[in-house]
Amino acid sequence: MRNSIRYIRRGVVVERSDLDPTRTLLDHLRIDCQETGTKEGCNEGDCGACTVVLARVKDGQLTYEAVNSCILFAGQADGAEIITVEDLAEGQRLHPVQQAMVDHHASQCGFCTPGIVMSLFTLYHSPVAADRATINDTLAGNLCRCTGYRPIIDAALATCDGRGSDQFSAAADSRMVALTALAGEDDVFTGTDERFFAAPASTASLARLLQRFPDARMVAGATDVGLWVTKRLADIPRLIWLGGVRDLGGVDESDDELVIGANVTLKDASAALGRIDPDLGEVMRRFGSEQVRTSGTVGGNIANGSPIGDLAPCLIALDGAVTLQRGDALRILPLEKFFIAYGKQDRAADEFVRALSVPRLRRGQHFRAFKISKRFDEDISAVMGAFRFTLDGRTISDARIAFGGMAATPKRAEATEQAIVGMSLERPTEWEAAIEAMARDYQPIDDARATGAYRLSTARALLQKALFELSAAPSSITRISPTREAAE
Ligand code: FAD
Ligand code: FES
Ligand code: FES
Repeated sequence: MRNSIRYIRRGVVVERSDLDPTRTLLDHLRIDCQETGTKEGCNEGDCGACTVVLARVKDGQLTYEAVNSCILFAGQADGAEIITVEDLAEGQRLHPVQQAMVDHHASQCGFCTPGIVMSLFTLYHSPVAADRATINDTLAGNLCRCTGYRPIIDAALATCDGRGSDQFSAAADSRMVALTALAGEDDVFTGTDERFFAAPASTASLARLLQRFPDARMVAGATDVGLWVTKRLADIPRLIWLGGVRDLGGVDESDDELVIGANVTLKDASAALGRIDPDLGEVMRRFGSEQVRTSGTVGGNIANGSPIGDLAPCLIALDGAVTLQRGDALRILPLEKFFIAYGKQDRAADEFVRALSVPRLRRGQHFRAFKISKRFDEDISAVMGAFRFTLDGRTISDARIAFGGMAATPKRAEATEQAIVGMSLERPTEWEAAIEAMARDYQPIDDARATGAYRLSTARALLQKALFELSAAPSSITRISPTREAAE
């Protein structure tokens, strides 16, 4: 058992046993370490001003990943090297990304600039030359309110050419050695029984810890829990971070299904989910931002029970299941049964989400997922619709439809499904009964994101869109991203 968290800062291993469990990394840097280059804007993961980079060794590779330090707890940096904007220049010589920002006049007030530079630093270290679309995706979580994005994108295009060569790449080997040495296999427990930050190293340790402290709050990426602290000012005295649990990760892809460990980040799950269907890949591309996807996990997105989470409707429509673990005992639930009521899931206090399994589409099955949000990027859904239709020729022989944003939980549209089975894609007049049936499945409420009336009419329109796309020849479909059928 280790009683401190450990990270690397400027080549030196830092050990801290005195940090409060919910001390954010941003406050740790700015207040405890007096390093104020990293900025605080929104304090809720939206603006990117607080972006720092965590270097880790993942699957034998040195990775640089951008995170929002405002909603990340300092203990989550355990085992990583923390790189901030203060670390990039060598004496008076700016880092190539910083110099390009100057050369392209990409900074006015400069408040967003440290975060933007850190996001571009990760892109600079990508082995592939960045095109405009990649740069846009990388910067979706970095807002600039005064310069405008064109000069920033020009700076990225000028430098992020896949050949990144700087003081960091020159010292990559020694960094790998240092990070590998740091990545111990110890359980971590800092603080007291009353107030602690714990990072178990295995599911067995996690299960034991939860049985001892069933009231402790699990935290995976903290992209939800972090905001409870920074926005609701919640006090969370007992925190168990899942990031060190080595057997809670991993993506297992077989011909029949995909099994994703609860702790797999949204970023690391994206490619495999996109291989089920490109619509799911597009949902992942628009999920939060690069920083949110880097920290946030698949397990966290399901366990939070949010009625507006993006993955749950998709995985319910795909007939996914959740594996839960309590002590040594595992149980598997159809995902739709996990969500009982608003804020209530079928999970005991000392039970954790172990994995999600998602069947692949079989012959004759077609999937669609549509996210409706006020902003294209980095926004929670107002309505999220997911559909899996099984076709027998041109007749719908089976349908699974699930929506987020339409009820107190992610929910299947059972009346609509019943109305749809047996319908012909050739006769759109028959669809009307199913579209009408949706009012029996959902009575959505008004809130800040949308009115109930808007949600219902949008959900109906999305069903119509899905049916229309299936009924039309793939090449005639007008979409931003291609469908699986069009790609085949
Ligand atoms: P955490 O915050 O660590 O935990 C969330 C909840 O799950 C907590 O109650 C925690 O105790 C519990 N938990 C976590 N892991 C487990 C486990 N293995 N077993 C049991 N309980 C567990 N969500 C979307 O769906 N779509 C979006 O587009 C989106 N955009 C966002 C944008 C921003 C700026 C932010 C801040 C959030 C956004 N979110 C979005 C919400 C959030 O990012 C996701 O829900 C994310 O998947 C949460 O994962 P996490 O690992 O960070 O969860
Ligand atoms: Fe805005 Fe962290 S301060 S994302
Ligand atoms: Fe002012 Fe970007 S330079 S917010």
